[in-house]
Amino acid sequence: MLFPISSIIVLVVGSVVASAASNKTAVNGTESCGVITKQLLEFYGNNSNTAQPFLFKPSLAHDCLQSSAIDNQLAASYVTEIKKYIQFQSTLAYLKNPPVDYYYPAVDILGGLDAIGSKAAAGGYKSQYAFDLALNTLVNSAHDGHFSLDTCTGGTIRFKRGRSPLGFVSVSKDGVALPEIFLYNDMLISKNVGIQSVAKINGQNATAVLQNFALFARSDLDSSYNDLFTNYGFAPVTETFDGSFSVPGVYQYPGDHTNITYSNGTTVSFENFATTSAKAWSSKIVDGNSFFKANCIFDKAATTSNTTSSPTSTASLTPATGTTAPTLLGYPYKPIVKDPSNQIAGYFMNGTGYADTAILRVATFENATADETLAPKTFQNTTRDFFAAARAANKTRIIIDVSGNPGGNTILPNDIFKRLFPGIEPYGGSRLRGNDAANIFGATLAAIPDSSLAITSSDNAALQAAKAQVIVSAWDYRSALTADLQNFTGWTSGQRPYFPSVKNNNDTFLAISRPPVNSSFYDITTDSVIPYGTATPPENPQPFLPQNVVLLTDGICASACSIFAEFLTRQAGTKTIVVGGRPQKGPMQAIGGVKGSQAFVYASLQQSSTTVLDPLLSQFIPQALLPSINSTLPGLIDLPLGDPSPAGLKNYGINLRDTIPLGDTQGIPLQFVFEPADCRIFYTPETVFNPSALWEQAHDIAWKGGKCAWGGISSNISSSSNPRPVSPTTNGAVKMTGGFSMMVVALAVAVLI
Ligand SMILES: *[C@@H]1O[C@H](CO)[C@@H](O)[C@H](O)[C@H]1NC(C)=O
Ligand SMILES: *[C@@H]1O[C@H](CO)[C@@H](O)[C@H](O)[C@H]1NC(C)=O
Ligand SMILES: *[C@@H]1O[C@H](CO)[C@@H](O)[C@H](O)[C@H]1NC(C)=O
Ligand SMILES: *[C@@H]1O[C@H](CO)[C@@H](O)[C@H](O)[C@H]1NC(C)=O
Ligand SMILES: *[C@@H]1O[C@H](CO)[C@@H](O)[C@H](O)[C@H]1NC(C)=O
Ligand SMILES: *[C@@H]1O[C@H](CO)[C@@H](O)[C@H](O)[C@H]1NC(C)=O
Ligand SMILES: *[C@@H]1O[C@H](CO)[C@@H](O)[C@H](O)[C@H]1NC(C)=O
Ligand SMILES: *[C@@H]1O[C@H](CO)[C@@H](O)[C@H](O)[C@H]1NC(C)=O
Ligand SMILES: *[C@@H]1O[C@H](CO)[C@@H](O)[C@H](O)[C@H]1NC(C)=O
Ligand SMILES: *[C@@H]1O[C@H](CO)[C@@H](O)[C@H](O)[C@H]1NC(C)=O
Ligand SMILES: *[C@@H]1O[C@H](CO)[C@@H](O)[C@H](O)[C@H]1NC(C)=O
Ligand SMILES: *[C@@H]1O[C@H](CO)[C@@H](O)[C@H](O)[C@H]1NC(C)=O
Repeated sequence: MLFPISSIIVLVVGSVVASAASNKTAVNGTESCGVITKQLLEFYGNNSNTAQPFLFKPSLAHDCLQSSAIDNQLAASYVTEIKKYIQFQSTLAYLKNPPVDYYYPAVDILGGLDAIGSKAAAGGYKSQYAFDLALNTLVNSAHDGHFSLDTCTGGTIRFKRGRSPLGFVSVSKDGVALPEIFLYNDMLISKNVGIQSVAKINGQNATAVLQNFALFARSDLDSSYNDLFTNYGFAPVTETFDGSFSVPGVYQYPGDHTNITYSNGTTVSFENFATTSAKAWSSKIVDGNSFFKANCIFDKAATTSNTTSSPTSTASLTPATGTTAPTLLGYPYKPIVKDPSNQIAGYFMNGTGYADTAILRVATFENATADETLAPKTFQNTTRDFFAAARAANKTRIIIDVSGNPGGNTILPNDIFKRLFPGIEPYGGSRLRGNDAANIFGATLAAIPDSSLAITSSDNAALQAAKAQVIVSAWDYRSALTADLQNFTGWTSGQRPYFPSVKNNNDTFLAISRPPVNSSFYDITTDSVIPYGTATPPENPQPFLPQNVVLLTDGICASACSIFAEFLTRQAGTKTIVVGGRPQKGPMQAIGGVKGSQAFVYASLQQSSTTVLDPLLSQFIPQALLPSINSTLPGLIDLPLGDPSPAGLKNYGINLRDTIPLGDTQGIPLQFVFEPADCRIFYTPETVFNPSALWEQAHDIAWKGGKCAWGGISSNISSSSNPRPVSPTTNGAVKMTGGFSMMVVALAVAVLI
């Protein structure tokens, strides 16, 4: 046996006993939820309707949500438990005390949780919805796409404006003049001839309404603004063009109508809808109390048998080629190569004067519905095949279009970057928070003797998996390399400790580390993706000169996309063009989503607690840390509201790693640094529908002196690599003063990876 069995710690993973809701009083009558059930059952009564969405009145939905019962004591203990997970959110200190570059107001997340917990403990919330709204508003004020909750009322109802739904676009006459707001359909039909812009929404200044609505999870306000609008850039990921203003979340009640006043004074009223489905809505719901029970009190008996299933892959050995549409949804003509899972595709521009230019369209670094072991490999193969085809066809320039890219697998950026620039080693420095539970994880794993972790052929599969689980843990010093690619020497010991208790901005952090991409253990954490040029040296000559590569974004780029963009801009000197943003002059960031380099779900944090408490390992927990286990380790007590199973805990997340760029001297997480794109433009009546027109405009800016709304790209860059300054820059950061009210709005939870 590997480790002597020890049971110094007996911990019962259990649940707070769920009592019936203690406060049944509804804000506006108890029947609204029952009316919804009645309408839903009528709608689905004759099965012929099942493919159609069930639509109902938003005010009825809102009345029902407000009538939801609450057990304030369960609510208070829910806050206590989620706080243990949220201690791992890497940016807490920077949110509380942000550096000058950061646009949004400071927010004390832990203090805010305490306040909500205290209010609940005092019986202060009238409905579960009011409580959930308060929590979501707090978490969304971090503007971090990796940081999210799955509160129990969250999955019940969605809204949409209009049946289709109604789409909006922000369009400038030439891409350089300031844009105005239009209805998507008006623009599509009129092609800008005699078209009226949208002056007001529900009687108020349309731009202001949209800017206030945009106050949600994105890290940058221009990126948030773009997120509202109809955009083909979303389609390869979401399979719709819908912007977030068109489909508000449950915490963004839009009212029963969206009234549009055109600039000629004519007002048109569009009906809004609430929607739910037979799957999301229990037929047992008759009032706010049963609504609460159905959604918030987890029925263990109904699901426990399925929660322990292991995530074994059912990968087919036959590559899935040619099984999807021939081009990316929303994209114009036949690609030269396309990933069967639609993550990436390559095109050659075909217009006159553009024949030298290739387009690499990187839509996402992960297709969540595709086979998880196959999809990264088809991504790699598609990239490889496209560069080979571009070389064979003598393409000398490339536009890399990451419009709408929400991130995904964090090692694929290394793969593409190494294919583009085989001579540059991608950096990828990141940093974890040194909270008390992190210290328990790290100190325990470090205390396990190396000899016990060596995997031998006599180990059975379960033991091999357990050892691998330890070795790949984010808190195991063996799982990371120092900034200069050396091994760490221990958790707190030796010359290069992983946890030297780095103090920054009044918080404690681990050392900056880099992924050990050449370690076969590390590959376990990357869906077995070994980046190009890692196992063997790169073979291909560099396909494009650095000045012939340009990065095109719509500011949505987040997470793994931000990692890729940072390699390109900071290490290879690639120029960036960004499209859209608020209707104002000035610079805009190319990367406007979260720049943290790893999302982590609660299920994985709970798994980490389970690992160190395994009877085989718990003997290694340092004595001094034993007393704090129960109060700090996440997941020892089931979440008292909602689904506490591993499947449920996958829907909650934190940002585990700050990205700390090469050359940084102050330890500021990159997402608090404003990095203007080299060139900013707006969409035009042409480019808002047609990606090829946007590519032509980007080409003209990059290589023919075309105009930008802000900034510009000089077409005679020296032929050597021309990296940007690597220290965080505040140059050109424009803060908006005034005209921006911190209206308390209901916020959507946009979960990005
Ligand atoms: C809910 O219960 C609390 C205390 O139990 C009480 O103060 C409050 O008034 C109740 N809510 C309503 C809407 O009656
Ligand atoms: C309560 O419901 C009625 C009828 O649906 C509605 O007119 C009223 O505005 C609602 N009141 C509140 C406070 O939601
Ligand atoms: C929008 O128009 C509808 C229908 O004409 C009207 O009932 C409603 O009051 C209007 N809402 C606003 C906010 O103007
Ligand atoms: C509408 O709001 C925007 C943003 O706050 C502001 O810049 C603009 O001047 C306003 N327009 C009018 C007509 O008030
Ligand atoms: C104003 O513009 C809208 C949209 O183009 C059009 O439907 C309406 O007829 C126009 N109103 C007037 C008074 O011209
Ligand atoms: C467990 O999962 C299987 C397969 O997905 C399903 O058929 C079954 O109904 C589930 N059982 C429970 C208790 O949910
Ligand atoms: C370029 O592609 C577009 C879109 O498929 C097509 O309509 C057009 O004919 C192509 N032009 C040439 C010169 O091949
Ligand atoms: C994800 O990949 C699968 C095939 O692996 C494909 O059927 C699906 O359409 C892809 N999703 C999107 C959004 O393109
Ligand atoms: C990727 O390409 C390699 C080499 O051609 C091939 O062996 C492998 O099967 C491909 N993988 C997939 C998933 O298409
Ligand atoms: C690419 O360039 C080479 C060398 O100039 C030439 O021989 C070849 O025909 C060209 N290929 C294409 C597809 O234009
Ligand atoms: C780091 O440690 C691993 C495992 O012990 C070893 O294989 C590797 O050579 C070490 N790397 C360096 C740079 O010392
Ligand atoms: C620094 O952190 C400590 C402990 O978390 C806290 O008590 C103190 O108020 C903080 N100081 C500042 C200046 O924020």
